[in-house]
Amino acid sequence: MSYELDSLPYDYDALEPHISEQVLRWHHDTHHQGYVNGWNGAEESLAENRESHDFSDSAGAIRSVTHNSSGHILHDLFWQNMSPEGGDQPEGELADRIEEDFGSYEAWEGEFSAAASDASGWALLVYDTFSNQLRNVAVDDHDKGAIWGGHPILACDVWEHSYYYDYGPARGDFVENFFDVVDWSEPSARFDQAVSLFE
Ligand SMILES: [Fe+2]
Repeated sequence: MSYELDSLPYDYDALEPHISEQVLRWHHDTHHQGYVNGWNGAEESLAENRESHDFSDSAGAIRSVTHNSSGHILHDLFWQNMSPEGGDQPEGELADRIEEDFGSYEAWEGEFSAAASDASGWALLVYDTFSNQLRNVAVDDHDKGAIWGGHPILACDVWEHSYYYDYGPARGDFVENFFDVVDWSEPSARFDQAVSLFE
């Protein structure tokens, strides 16, 4: 099977002024496409090596699958958890769990922002299926610092390609503006699904 890049769920200029049309075009069409291509290429290498029983470059291909599949999955999440109608706070089950596990929405947001300011990759809100609780994690690249059993609920891409053209080195301003385009309907549905799968 090969993986394909879905279109953005909104127009390229839909998140302006928070994220510019130019950044979304580069980010989606070039960077995200690169991960999809990288994943497909690595899967092909693995399949060829299994066929030929020559595993000399399989370890590299395995690492490439991890890197590129994680990049693809997290970018999909990132696009889906934003929308021009965003900017509200979570409701329902997810809101209750955020309050239970972090104390308040504000405490969650402060901690998530800290992860976003430190990560060399992503800030993620994950549902930790091992300990049955929500956690913020700071991920380098697309996978380093991930937690086993952590099911991603909300993603913020803090690679420089995500914000530098619009914000320069002011990553904190980007993260602040990110919350104005977070559409919690998608993370809420994702959380409900994760809980039902793992409880
Ligand atoms: Fe990215």
